[in-house]
Amino acid sequence: MVQTHKTRLDFPLGLFSAAGRRLTLCCTPINSKPQTQVRLTMSEKGSVNNDTKDQNTSDLEIVNSDLTVDELSREVQDTLSVSQRHKFWETQPVGQFKDLRDASLSEGPIEPPTPISEVKQEPYNLPNLYEWVTCDLSSADTCAEVYNLLSNNYVEDDENMFRFNYSKEFLQWALHPPGYYKTWHIGVRVKSSKKLVAFITGIPARMRVRSEIVSMAEVNFLCVHKKLRSKRLAPVMIKEVTRRVHLENIWQAAYTAGVVLPTPITSCQYWHRSLNPKKLIDVGFSRLGPRMTMSRTLKLYKLPDSPVTPGFRKMELRDVPAVTRLLRAYLLQFVVAPDFDELDVEHWILPKEEVVDSYVVESPEDHEITDFCSFYTLPSSILGHPTHSILKAAYSYYNVATKTPLVQLMNDALIAAKQKDFDVFNALDVMHNETFLKELKYGPGDGKLHYYLYNYRLKQILRPSELGLVLL
Ligand SMILES: CC(C)(COP(=O)(O)OP(=O)(O)OC[C@H]1O[C@@H](n2cnc3c(N)ncnc32)[C@H](O)[C@@H]1OP(=O)(O)O)[C@@H](O)C(=O)NCCC(=O)NCCS
Repeated sequence: MVQTHKTRLDFPLGLFSAAGRRLTLCCTPINSKPQTQVRLTMSEKGSVNNDTKDQNTSDLEIVNSDLTVDELSREVQDTLSVSQRHKFWETQPVGQFKDLRDASLSEGPIEPPTPISEVKQEPYNLPNLYEWVTCDLSSADTCAEVYNLLSNNYVEDDENMFRFNYSKEFLQWALHPPGYYKTWHIGVRVKSSKKLVAFITGIPARMRVRSEIVSMAEVNFLCVHKKLRSKRLAPVMIKEVTRRVHLENIWQAAYTAGVVLPTPITSCQYWHRSLNPKKLIDVGFSRLGPRMTMSRTLKLYKLPDSPVTPGFRKMELRDVPAVTRLLRAYLLQFVVAPDFDELDVEHWILPKEEVVDSYVVESPEDHEITDFCSFYTLPSSILGHPTHSILKAAYSYYNVATKTPLVQLMNDALIAAKQKDFDVFNALDVMHNETFLKELKYGPGDGKLHYYLYNYRLKQILRPSELGLVLL
């Protein structure tokens, strides 16, 4: 069940990409070098509490030392039964791997809600040197602290060449949707210095699963400072956010990870469309393919100077009702999708400088809004490069085409992104995205992004095209 990130996949038409696995990952894969080293040294480290203590250390000590660290990790994983691999997650109400074979299990909540009065009222214990804090992201100082923690410690690619660099404005947008709870923005500080060393967040969302609307938390931005890794702090963070979610009478959650945990509802792939191939090659995000020259590559990825669809323009506040109607109708096709109302669309889709871009197609004849597309801005720091420090990436968000062909709409999205100086446009193979990826010269990444539901079982693993959800 452990993913590998060994293969390098060729971009179609020659551009060779190492980038897929770099930027596709929401987290470092469990079998990548950093995680593997963590596991090999686990026996030397203190753990936060016993219920989450890793049991794998004795097995790790007996493996053959001639193997590489990656091979060792894989060998150990293979010799362990699945249930031994996830000491924390096997205690949680999530689909377990063994349940996949059990047709008698019904869809829906795994555990029923309990009365709020029975929810643990005080926070989980942290090691003595640390304390819980609620992070007020509307405070510039706190937002800067969170930004610094994430920009130095959040998700990196396997080879530590790139690290996600969510902007402060992005974090405020991502964490302040309608009805958000301040108490779900959770930090851990060192008591003595007050330094922020860990973070996790939840935001409320209404999710439709088949015909059921379920109140959920979307959990994101789990981050533990590099110096505090593999001390079983992550399970405590996850339990604490879960407790605070329960206190609001919400019992389900959605989240994504680059690692395989019990048990994905679907596993998606990122695709990448070069907008600035020269820079992507310079920074090692992509490579020139065999038989390709730089000038042929530049020609291959060249785009028109401006969008081609008549009536294609930036979305405005007055478009919110029409965009909401289009989006709601579109999302009904998918098994799992958010249940967006106008307030949600105003928050999540309306353009916000350097955070989210959205365009509508307004019919030149009757001024009806027939289509829209959107993407969000998530740069990555380029680590240790002499001239470039930031890779500017656009991520496809929600797109609906009812009149303009989806391929044409998404080509206009590429052109709009290029006009805004993005280096690369990324898209998952969710919703109907597969229908435009190859034609628009996206190349597949080789990392996976796994989607999960907490305390909600689906009978079958979904195809990515059955999922109507993009988490940031
Ligand atoms: C992800 C991160 C917080 C995990 O912390 P850690 O110190 O490596 O791991 P810990 O010892 O605290 O905890 C290990 C447990 O957390 C689980 N875990 C690790 N990453 C996880 C993730 N992204 N989501 C949920 N659980 C995760 C592990 O599976 C393990 O539980 P298990 O024994 O049941 O399998 C840390 O590696 C980190 O900050 N990484 C960079 C940012 C990142 O990848 N964030 C996640 C984005 S999806």
